Amino acid sequence: MSTAISQTAYNYKVVRQFAVMTVIWGVIGMGLGVFIASQLVWPELNLGLEWTSFGRLRPLHTNAVIFAFGGCALMATSLYVVQRTSQVRLISDSLAAFVFWGWQLVIVLAVITLPLGYTSSKEYAELEWPIDLLLGVVWVAYAVVFFGTIVKRKTKHIYVGNWFFGAFILVTALLHVVNSAAVPVSLFKSYSAYSGATDAMIQWWYGHNAVGFFLTTGFLGMMYYFVPKQAERPIYSYRLSIVHFWALITLYIWAGPHHLHYTALPDWAQSLGMAMSIILLAPSWGGMINGMMSLSGAWHKLRTDPILRFLVVSLAFYGMSTFEGPMMAIKTVNALSHYTDWTIGHVHAGALGWVAMISIGALYHMLPKVYGREQMHSIALINVHFWLATIGTVLYIASMWVNGITQGLMWRAVNEDGTLTYSFVEALEASHPGYVVRMIGGAFFATGMLFMAYNTFRTVRAAKPAEYDAAAQIPVGVAH
Ligand code: HEM
Ligand code: HEM
Repeated sequence: MSTAISQTAYNYKVVRQFAVMTVIWGVIGMGLGVFIASQLVWPELNLGLEWTSFGRLRPLHTNAVIFAFGGCALMATSLYVVQRTSQVRLISDSLAAFVFWGWQLVIVLAVITLPLGYTSSKEYAELEWPIDLLLGVVWVAYAVVFFGTIVKRKTKHIYVGNWFFGAFILVTALLHVVNSAAVPVSLFKSYSAYSGATDAMIQWWYGHNAVGFFLTTGFLGMMYYFVPKQAERPIYSYRLSIVHFWALITLYIWAGPHHLHYTALPDWAQSLGMAMSIILLAPSWGGMINGMMSLSGAWHKLRTDPILRFLVVSLAFYGMSTFEGPMMAIKTVNALSHYTDWTIGHVHAGALGWVAMISIGALYHMLPKVYGREQMHSIALINVHFWLATIGTVLYIASMWVNGITQGLMWRAVNEDGTLTYSFVEALEASHPGYVVRMIGGAFFATGMLFMAYNTFRTVRAAKPAEYDAAAQIPVGVAH
């Protein structure tokens, strides 16, 4: 790399590293998803070993897909977008490298400790305290790189995508620090600083905002950059994007209690969580409409551009899951859906349909750009991936709806004398076909990721370092 270029060009190295790791962790995390889905079909696959049991591998799946796959996708895209929209290089290459290697270390430690059974037993915050501390340090470094670059920007205003990325970074830090507060008793064991209903409340304040800020706000930042870019159209409404931002940020933080309906949590808190969740429909749909309408005048591109299809279909699933969520937050609906596979279906409508699809679309747009190529190695393969992902998601969520409603209705059915009509095992038997269909849907989705890995490998292999350098040059006086 010539000195002249390295001083003035964007830092694409860290973007490339995170982008490639997104694909690798995606294959691993979703592969694990298919494996645990198969365990629910054939329990023998627990292999009679504690390390490979469903209970240990399930948190490994959730951590791998949310923090490894989703986290790397968010870091790759945020560090790309912040440079392009601020027209400056990241403030520090060494700090950016620390963020990359530190994040990978956190993930590797999770991969080792979770199957061994070291867990704080808080969902989505299972890692034990030494790893939590490391995660905190890496996150602060990430925040410094991101916000430091914004401070140094050459453009006058801060692009709206960066507002969303910024909120995701700040709130995730706050959630992590508050929910992970614990009293260590040994290197591998700690107890939560909170107890009883307070512990549950803090945990679901964290849990819901992990969904709201990690799995939603960050990915909306992605949406606000990559949808207009790929469609080659401006955002439909800049004003709506600002309203969308403030409404989403203000409302999400209150909705956590919908995870604790009919528990020891005070009734008023449950009702507040329900009300805030219902109101949340409005900004969620405002954002979806803003993204969708950015395609005005470019709808015809959907016929030929599978990357745009990924992005638009992700928005459709975002709209669907943010309609379903508020409905499930209504206490009477939750009385049926809670503990059933309906929740699992809702999770994956968001996780596969929204989070994974928007990340995949953004990566297909970004990968060739950071490797100095015109486009991905094969557009036909992207198309195959699109159909595998879409059909896979539909099979997954449809089977879980059927299972969820079946389970909810069977569990609550009572005979005239007040005894239960069905035993638990009968409801489990009725769920078996749904588990088979979910496993097939998941296998479709994961196979699509393998195609993506191959396509990425071919794209990367074809690129030359001189091309990367040329691609990273900062255009002078040109809009991003
Ligand atoms: C091939 C794709 C995938 C398959 C086959 C799959 C499968 C599964 C299975 C079988 C479970 C356990 C369900 C249960 O306990 O009954 C699960 C849980 C979960 N998965 Fe996935 N998954 C996939 C992709 C993803 C992705 C991409 C994400 C996030 C971005 C994700 C997030 C989650 C979460 C958050 C849970 C826990 C849900 C809860 O506790 O309610 N999954 N997954
Ligand atoms: C307006 C938006 C949303 C609302 C109001 C909402 C509401 C809900 C409700 C009521 C539950 C069931 C709680 C229970 O019975 O235990 C739930 C579960 C869940 N939702 Fe959403 N949801 C929304 C959007 C999303 C999106 C977009 C995603 C993913 C990207 C998502 C991921 C999850 C996860 C992971 C769970 C399972 C948590 C657990 O029990 O482990 N949600 N949501």
